[in-house]
Amino acid sequence: MGNNILVTGGAGFIGSNFLRDRLASPSGDTFINLDTITYAGNLENLKEVSEKENYFFEKVNIEDETKVESVCKKYKINGIINFAAESHVDRSISDSKPFINTNVLGTLNLLEIARRLNIDNFLQVSTDEVYGSLGKTGAFAENSQIQPNSPYSASKASADHLVHSFGHTYGMNVKITRCSNNYGPYQFPEKLIPLMINNALEDKDLPVYGDGKNVRDWLYVSDHCDGIWEVFLNGNSGEVYNIGGDCEKQNIEIVELLLDMIGKPKSLIKYVKDRPGHDERYAIDNSKITSELNWKPKISFSDGIKMTLDWYLNNKSWSNNVRSGAYLEFYEKWYGGLAK
Ligand code: NAD
Ligand code: TYD
Repeated sequence: MGNNILVTGGAGFIGSNFLRDRLASPSGDTFINLDTITYAGNLENLKEVSEKENYFFEKVNIEDETKVESVCKKYKINGIINFAAESHVDRSISDSKPFINTNVLGTLNLLEIARRLNIDNFLQVSTDEVYGSLGKTGAFAENSQIQPNSPYSASKASADHLVHSFGHTYGMNVKITRCSNNYGPYQFPEKLIPLMINNALEDKDLPVYGDGKNVRDWLYVSDHCDGIWEVFLNGNSGEVYNIGGDCEKQNIEIVELLLDMIGKPKSLIKYVKDRPGHDERYAIDNSKITSELNWKPKISFSDGIKMTLDWYLNNKSWSNNVRSGAYLEFYEKWYGGLAK
């Protein structure tokens, strides 16, 4: 018999890629997408799979105990994968409260419900940002110190501690994945790669923070989704799995590459004030998941970035539709404040 899996935040970037991938081929599993549809959530992302008989959607906030519990009972949920989060560092710098509400209190709510209903497989989708910032060398391993620097990463680290504590205290089957920066189709155009693509296509300035030399370790989103699935099915209870693509790049390298690919001039690059508390470098040691679970990234950066650019070129109306209301308000305020 298949699993009935609650996927929270399934209408966002990674959650929707995960659902499309899982629902692409028939399986005995049923996926229930529970999402409150914030500015970053969009059911359009799921139109390819919305008619599948093993897919259901429930518009619910993970903080709403009564509704989440009744959804879990209705579908006889026996596993939870928690993608739901406020996910953008800059927004957390501008207003941290929603990050605590969703990322910490929302996760706690899911854990309490899982405990009450004996839902015995809980995967928390976390981030390498909980480890803080690296200098020029080294990489984050699962036992690296937790030293989050932004309100976003502090909220994710708090959630990780709660997940661990529920495994340790109540013997629940919990797992945590910590992934590096993702890119790919359907990423909300506030994040580096889609923001730069859209701005370049529209001949707008490309706002590069600081000197542009901060390093991120990039992974194509479908590789992340495969890693999450592998850990959900075969990971050890109580353990953390780092997921990363061994693909470190300076921000400026990516921005220049995109301009070359799009055929736009470097004069569009605009160095702006640095993000407050900007983490210098992230890099993931992925040896645990590659050796224990046989996972490895399948998509190279050169293929992934081409597929990503093609997707944004072919889906300009998607970007136009999601860049509305609250997003535009934030954009004007944030980048206005960073202008030199
Ligand atoms: P996203 O912002 O694109 O999507 C978040 C989704 O969660 C949206 O659909 C939103 O509507 C939903 N949501 C937000 N608050 C909710 C709430 N209170 N109740 C129910 N639904 C809610 O985020 P993403 O980039 O897809 O990230 C997904 C997860 O992966 C997050 O937990 C994030 O911390 C983690 N992560 C992201 C990256 C990355 O590079 N994007 C890397 C590592 C880990
Ligand atoms: P982002 O996509 O926000 O991911 P994160 O901060 O979670 O790593 O940013 C990736 C890198 O790009 C980060 O070093 C900040 C930088 N950046 C810019 O230089 N300009 C921008 O407009 C944005 C959004 C990010």
